[in-house]
Amino acid sequence: MASVEGRGRARSCEGKRTPAAMASPGGLRRLLWCVAIVVLFYGAEFGAAWKEAEFRKCHQSKFCKDVRERAAAWARGESHREIEVREISLKDGRVAARLVPAGNEDEALVLELSTYRDGIVRVKVVEETAPRKRFEVPQVVVNDFEEKRLGIGSIGRRDGASVVQLSGGFEVVIQHKPFQVQVKRGDDLVLSINSKNLFDIQHLQVKKEGDDWEDSFRSHNDKRPHGPQTVSFDVSFHGSDHVYGIPERATSFALKPTKGANINSEPYRLFNLDVFEYLDESPFGLYGSIPVMVSHSKKRTVGFFLLNAAEMQIDVLAPGWEQVGIEQVSDESSSGKRSTGQNEEKRVDTHWIAESGVFDAFLFVGPSPKDVVAQYCSVTGTSAIPQLFSTAYHQCRWNYKDEADVAGVDAGFDEHDIPYDTIWLDIEHTDGKKYFTWDKNLFPNPKEMQNKIGAKGRHMVTIVDPHVKRDDNFPLHKEASSYGYYVKDSSGKDFDGWCWPGASSYLDMLSPEVRSWWATKFSYSNYVGSTPILYIWNDMNEPSVFNGPETTMPKDAIHYGGVEHRDLHNAYGYYYHMASVQGLYQRERGTDRPFVLSRAFFAGTQKIGAIWTGDNTADWGHIRVSVPMLLTLGMTGIANAGADVGGFFGNPDPEMLTRWYQLGTYYPFFRGHGHLDTKRREPWLFGEPYTSLMRQAISARYQILPYVYTLFKEASVTGIPLVRPLWMEFPEDESTFTRDDEFLLGPSLLVHGVYSEGAKSEKVYFPGNETWYDVKSGATFPGGKEVEIPVTLDSGIPVYQRAGSIIPKKLRHRRSSTQMQNDPYTLVVALDSKYEAEGELYIDDGKSYEFEQGAFIHRRFKFAKGKLTSTNLAPTKSNPKKFTSSCLVERIVIMGVRARDLVTGKHAVVESEDRWIQTDIGAPSLIQGAYSSALILRLPNVRIADDWSIKLG
Ligand code: NOJ
Repeated sequence: MASVEGRGRARSCEGKRTPAAMASPGGLRRLLWCVAIVVLFYGAEFGAAWKEAEFRKCHQSKFCKDVRERAAAWARGESHREIEVREISLKDGRVAARLVPAGNEDEALVLELSTYRDGIVRVKVVEETAPRKRFEVPQVVVNDFEEKRLGIGSIGRRDGASVVQLSGGFEVVIQHKPFQVQVKRGDDLVLSINSKNLFDIQHLQVKKEGDDWEDSFRSHNDKRPHGPQTVSFDVSFHGSDHVYGIPERATSFALKPTKGANINSEPYRLFNLDVFEYLDESPFGLYGSIPVMVSHSKKRTVGFFLLNAAEMQIDVLAPGWEQVGIEQVSDESSSGKRSTGQNEEKRVDTHWIAESGVFDAFLFVGPSPKDVVAQYCSVTGTSAIPQLFSTAYHQCRWNYKDEADVAGVDAGFDEHDIPYDTIWLDIEHTDGKKYFTWDKNLFPNPKEMQNKIGAKGRHMVTIVDPHVKRDDNFPLHKEASSYGYYVKDSSGKDFDGWCWPGASSYLDMLSPEVRSWWATKFSYSNYVGSTPILYIWNDMNEPSVFNGPETTMPKDAIHYGGVEHRDLHNAYGYYYHMASVQGLYQRERGTDRPFVLSRAFFAGTQKIGAIWTGDNTADWGHIRVSVPMLLTLGMTGIANAGADVGGFFGNPDPEMLTRWYQLGTYYPFFRGHGHLDTKRREPWLFGEPYTSLMRQAISARYQILPYVYTLFKEASVTGIPLVRPLWMEFPEDESTFTRDDEFLLGPSLLVHGVYSEGAKSEKVYFPGNETWYDVKSGATFPGGKEVEIPVTLDSGIPVYQRAGSIIPKKLRHRRSSTQMQNDPYTLVVALDSKYEAEGELYIDDGKSYEFEQGAFIHRRFKFAKGKLTSTNLAPTKSNPKKFTSSCLVERIVIMGVRARDLVTGKHAVVESEDRWIQTDIGAPSLIQGAYSSALILRLPNVRIADDWSIKLG
């Protein structure tokens, strides 16, 4: 598999060997670079998969090795170390305390603790005096967050500790000696910081003669001019066995311990990297970082967030961890069991090590899983509401070669009657990887091409990467360098790294001025050849630097305000993504919702746009791991995410591709994509039955778009993700706590993928106490049981609707979501044991921000006492803007009806607009086969926007 990416990158270099490139003065240099890069990446280890040796292990970074060893020694009691609270008082409604580590007054710290509405506590600790100010990550906490602050009126005292009351029966206890922060509810300890005495902020120093701060890895030397400056501490989650979060990595949803008796693996690393050919079962950190951890037990869910964008390493500790020597790292993955002794308290201890930055922590008291996500999103923002088209299917490939290819693929979807909304162009569409340009031979008429796509209600996405080609004939580069907008290397010169275009520089996206300048580049006059149907893809924004340490930017590179790259690395891609989104926003003067897909991400990315899980591989393990990856992203706020359907590297066989489409139907972001060197894989290239099955899978997505869009709306208000762990809806069902082979899409659909070739059955767990209805057959399964479900490729993957739910759908088959706008709805009602069900539907124009001024429809459907009622959920106050829809309900499917209601000759009566219309809609009919016990009411023809009810006669 390695050779696939190897060939791709090599070919991209070969692409430079055009006569023009060779004739240019830089031609030979570029060629040599190409050879060097190919040798560097693919030489020695060519043929191997993931190139582990290219990436640092903890013991290969001074900061990680030192702290990890020191912490274990402290825990073994080899040196006594204690932080003491010396003074504590209230200042402007916050707790202010002075902390003195190990009696060393010179290294005193200042703590500030504030409480916020909805169960949020913020704790900041910085040095009292230091030679330099530490970097605090801007633009992540939402602007109005301080408005949610609750002034603390008093500090209580109990047993020598200080106590601050929170709402909901929670309190924060600050123990003085040794210093510890605890969140409690009654006598229950919920979360604690420093219960293991590992809290440590390395005091900033001024370099003295003889200090050796440099740190090298392979051929790269990091000058570390500010020396050691780690922030490290322990956080314990009490009463719980499981922790989740800290994406991104391709591993199980419940995080396994990294250190403990017989467990000694690498800590979980948060450091955004372009990890090509990542493995499907590896805890290694990938393209994005969110320093959020959540723990869940039957009793409660709690969360912890460290606002810090430096490299971070996090150990999940199991008993006996302090005895483990760092040199004995084994590759054996642990059993995943955190064996607590019989009498030990249930708890998960974790140890966090940030290379630099500040201790700025947010504690989320829950108590439910949804509360924790909502609390986190009230700090960092809820999901941007996407354009409706972007919630439908996307067709991508590296690369659609030219305009004829684009037209052919577009026509192929029509010929084969497969819906799709967006076609994507990868790097080869540009003139020499200069973004915002077009290859004039391959794409001579970009506007015409887009107009043709747009005429069918479809859209296009082009790639814009953050590396800028250092070409003096490229105006963007000339401007950026003359304005001084590039990141600088440690010697103060424009940082010059290697990426797709060859020699490249990287815009300093930390600078608000650079971001504003970048945003202007998306205007129609600057991005020549772009039209209103064109949206953007930001790739390689970790940032990826082919010749940099670990394929990224050196940590001693310098940003705006003298900030070291080390301090903000994990947020670089976030700022870049933000500036691109701002560009699209300005392009339409704030009237059109931007769509920008990003590979790198950080805490808060959800408020900007979608992400995908990068360069996965066409194999079954990667289909399987996409589920825990998306679950983790959802729990850490990123509601809009997907994995490349089909796998980026390698060639999926038709069965695998079909299975991937069947699962991708339920990804929040649904895109097929493949590497330059893979075989073409448009869904019609495989013959029957595969083409039909892929068509069915894609159509199934279009059918549930009203439900999906309603979920996106919910995520935009509360932060609650689309892809949910089973325990988010069934928090007390312990059998779900480590389950990550299935998920809930919203509250009502249970999805279980098929993850192996030729699978004949899947073991599906049905959570809760209620029934689940097979979405295809209507067959029912009781909750609280695992059932072996027979599967065939034709039957698709197991998907079930929850009893008690109503799901709005649109079943007419169209070419794109735009063409479904006026289509009638089908409401699928799944009755529970009380003979009741409910659901919601949100509709707006799918495009603008007029919903902010009231231009939307929000309905609540409720079935009770034999009557289905639709009521308004939108505020009724007079709104400056209105949105209405004349769409009708053409069908109501009621699953789980009693035999007596299935008697033919009965009638349903429609009551609408406050009057009985007594419309005879004919005898309800029972569809044989499709729904074994469903009643189908045809053509009730009530308007989706109106109040109405329908009573079974
Ligand atoms: C890496 C991205 O992850 C992949 O999706 C893309 O096709 C290539 N870069 C080329 O742009």
